[in-house]
Amino acid sequence: MKRRIPVNAASGPVGPAKIRIRHLQDAKERGRPFSMLTSYDCLSARVFEAAGIEVLLVGDSVATTVLGHESTTAVTHEEMLVFTRAVARSVTRPLVVADLAFGTYQTGVQDAVRSGIDLVRAGAQMVKLEGGQAITPQIRGLVSSGIPVMGHLGFTPQSVNALSGHRVQGRDQAGADHLAEDAIALQEAGVSAIVLELVPAALAARITEIVQVPTIGIGAGPHCDGQVLVWQDMAGLSGFEGTFVKQFAHLGPELEKAASEYRRQVLEGVYPDPQHSFD
Ligand code: KIV
Repeated sequence: MKRRIPVNAASGPVGPAKIRIRHLQDAKERGRPFSMLTSYDCLSARVFEAAGIEVLLVGDSVATTVLGHESTTAVTHEEMLVFTRAVARSVTRPLVVADLAFGTYQTGVQDAVRSGIDLVRAGAQMVKLEGGQAITPQIRGLVSSGIPVMGHLGFTPQSVNALSGHRVQGRDQAGADHLAEDAIALQEAGVSAIVLELVPAALAARITEIVQVPTIGIGAGPHCDGQVLVWQDMAGLSGFEGTFVKQFAHLGPELEKAASEYRRQVLEGVYPDPQHSFD
């Protein structure tokens, strides 16, 4: 197993003014980890750019984290375009990746390419889609149209019903071999990176070793080339405490404290005071 070389990130972003595919590839080859976070709006995008996050994912998780749906399948292509524009116009350095919404690529190569073109026009520099060998024609179509593609294997949220819920994938030998074959198939179809979601750490290590493109893990252990989290989970805003999620802040309780203090001051006539009023 290739050793990952930790980067001293304390001093903030260093290196290229604009993160491109070749920088992720280079990071893999040098054994240097990189980070990806979801982002769906200008404020979070700017904050994450300032923090040096290399890749921003306008994920279809926006369906559940922002729009209040039960599943990522509910977000529409038009909604994804709105969120993609918001992020893309707000940052310069991170690579901006946008999810192809459920139903925009499963129906065929033409639909995939048309939807990919829309996302690129909205500012995405790469599009992500879920699935293995079955969607390699769509990947080839996108890549040959000049649209870089990120694959997504393991637990694929758009197939939550077919997968009988949120479950770790590839636990048995047959499942693991199947996922490894899918990863190879995606690479041969031309993906530039692969997200591995909810797979055992040893399997993620195996896939990371056998493919030349970078892998990006979420619930896939420490051996992937990069890591991704949904930002509201990472920041303790969503309240989601899955095994693989580490809360690096507790924004939920902080925000509640601020809102309740604001309410108290309004109700008690403390705010607005003269300092926050016009003469
Ligand atoms: O939409 C999303 O947030 C994602 C991540 C879980 C990788 O696809």
